[in-house]
Amino acid sequence: MRIIEIFDTTLRDGEQSPGVNLSREEKLEIARQLGRLGVDIIEAGFAASSPGDFEAVRQIAREVRGVTVCSLARTVQSDIDSAYEALREAENPRIHVFLATSDIHLKYKLRMTREQVLEQIDQAVRYAVKYMSNVEFSAEDAGRTDIDFLCQVAEVAIRAGAKVFNVPDTVGYLTPHEYAEKIRALRERVPGIDKIKLSSHCHDDLGMAVANTLAGIQAGITQVEVTINGIGERAGNASLEEVVMALATRADFYQAKTNIDLGQIYRTSRLVSKLTGMVVPPNKAIVGANAFAHESGIHQDGVLKEKLTYEIMKPETIGLSESKLVLGKHSGRHAFREKLVELGYQLSDEEINEVFRRFKELCDKKKTVTDEDIVALVEDKQLVDRSDLYQLEYLHVSCGNTAVPTATLRLRKPSGEIVEEAAVGNGAVDAIYKAIDRATGDAVELVSYQIQSVTGGRDALGEVRVQVKRGEVLANGRGVSTDVLEASAKAYLDAINRLGVGRTQAAAARVRAGV
Ligand code: KIV
Ligand code: ZN
Repeated sequence: MRIIEIFDTTLRDGEQSPGVNLSREEKLEIARQLGRLGVDIIEAGFAASSPGDFEAVRQIAREVRGVTVCSLARTVQSDIDSAYEALREAENPRIHVFLATSDIHLKYKLRMTREQVLEQIDQAVRYAVKYMSNVEFSAEDAGRTDIDFLCQVAEVAIRAGAKVFNVPDTVGYLTPHEYAEKIRALRERVPGIDKIKLSSHCHDDLGMAVANTLAGIQAGITQVEVTINGIGERAGNASLEEVVMALATRADFYQAKTNIDLGQIYRTSRLVSKLTGMVVPPNKAIVGANAFAHESGIHQDGVLKEKLTYEIMKPETIGLSESKLVLGKHSGRHAFREKLVELGYQLSDEEINEVFRRFKELCDKKKTVTDEDIVALVEDKQLVDRSDLYQLEYLHVSCGNTAVPTATLRLRKPSGEIVEEAAVGNGAVDAIYKAIDRATGDAVELVSYQIQSVTGGRDALGEVRVQVKRGEVLANGRGVSTDVLEASAKAYLDAINRLGVGRTQAAAARVRAGV
C-alpha cells in the first residue's frame, strides 16, 4: 500500500470562502483538531497577507506539534521572509511558493513572458531553500498550462531545490482523465521528479475536484491538497473526508492509504462548519446529515436485515457513534463528563461546569437531550464566553398577527458598556435585527438567513445561520437556542463579532489581486 500524504489547506484556501473570517483562536482550535485528525501538513495561512494571518501561522507553528506547518508565499522575497519568520518555531516548517504558469495568467495577470516566469521561479525557490530544505512550489493554473511549459517549470523548480511540486487545477477545469494524463506526462518527462513529492490541488468548479484528485493518485500523486467539508475559493477544494474515505473504502482498488484517524472525521467536519459558519449540505457525502440515513421502505428493510445491503461504510468509522449513554434530567456530572469524552471533547473542569449548567437548563425545556444537543451546547458556549465581543444580555419580543412586532434588548459592548434598545419591524426577526443595529450603531446588510432544527421534535434546539455584509467584507454567524428568536439574535451578533475579528480574508483577497 502506498501512503498518500494529506496536506490540509482549510485554514488558507478554505478561509478564502466568501464570508469566512476566522479569528486567531479559532484557527488554532481548528489546527489542533487537524493534528488529532492526523493530517501530515497544515497550511496555516498566508503569512505576508496580513498581520492577523502572520500571527495565526506563528501561533500554530509554535503550538501544534507532530505535523508539518506550512505558509503560502508569492515569488517575492518579502513574502518568503514573512513565511520564514512566522514558521521559525515550527517543529517541521515548510514554505509554499507559488506563481501562475498558464498563458492566460501570464498575458493578463502577470504580464510576463515564459522566460521571466522561469527566472522568477528559480530565484524564489533558491531564496526559500536558503531558509529551509522543505520548500514546495505550486504552478498556479497548472490545469490550463501547456504541458511542455509545465514540464520546464517543474524542472526549474526541482533544480532550484523544491522538494514538492504541486499541480493545481486552480479553476476546476480539467476532467479526471486529463488531470491524470498531465501527472503521467510530468512523471515521464521531468528529470528528478521521482526524487520529490508530486502533489494535487483540485478545485470543484465542475464538481470534479475529488474525482480529479483520485485520478491524480492513480497516476502517481503522493500528496493531496484538500480541505475539510471541501470549503475553499468559489466552489471549493477537494474534500478531505471524501478523498480519505474513498481510499479507505476502496483500498482494494487504489492500493493506497493515509495517516488519518478516521474516527475524528465527523468531529472535525462539525468544528469547521461551526467556526466558518458554512453549513454542510444534508446530502454531502460522508459528513452530511443524510449520508447514513435510509428513507425508502425497501432500503430500511434491507438495512435492518443486513447493513451491508445499502451501507458501504459504517457511520462509526467516521466517529458518528450510536450513543451508548442516554442523558436526561437525572443524569449527574459524572455521566455528563463521560458523554463529553465519548463525543471527543477535551474541556477543562471550569468549562465542563459551565456546559453542565446549561445542560441542566436544557433538560428543563426538553425531555430527551441527544448527542446533537450536547454538541450544540458545547459549540455555542465557546463563542459566548468571549468578553471582547458583543453579548446579548436579554431579549424580549412581542408579536402576533394583529400586533406590531417589537423587540427590546440589552447588549454588552466589547468596551463593557451596556446598551438597551427597542425597535419595531416587519416581523419579529426584523425587529430584533433593527434593535441590534441601533445598539451597535452599525447597520450591516443581512445577506442570508437560514433556520433549522438540531434534532427532531417540537422541543428541538433551533439553529440559525446568517451571512452579513459591511462594505465588501462578508461574515457568517451562527446561533443556537430552544427559542428560535434568541437563536436569530445570537447568529446576527456572532456575524457582527466576526466582522470585528479576523480581516484576513479581505487582506488575502488584496494580495491575490496583486495589490
Ligand atoms: O488554487 C490554487 O492554484 C492555489 C495555489 C496558491 C496553490 O490555491
Ligand atoms: Zn486553490
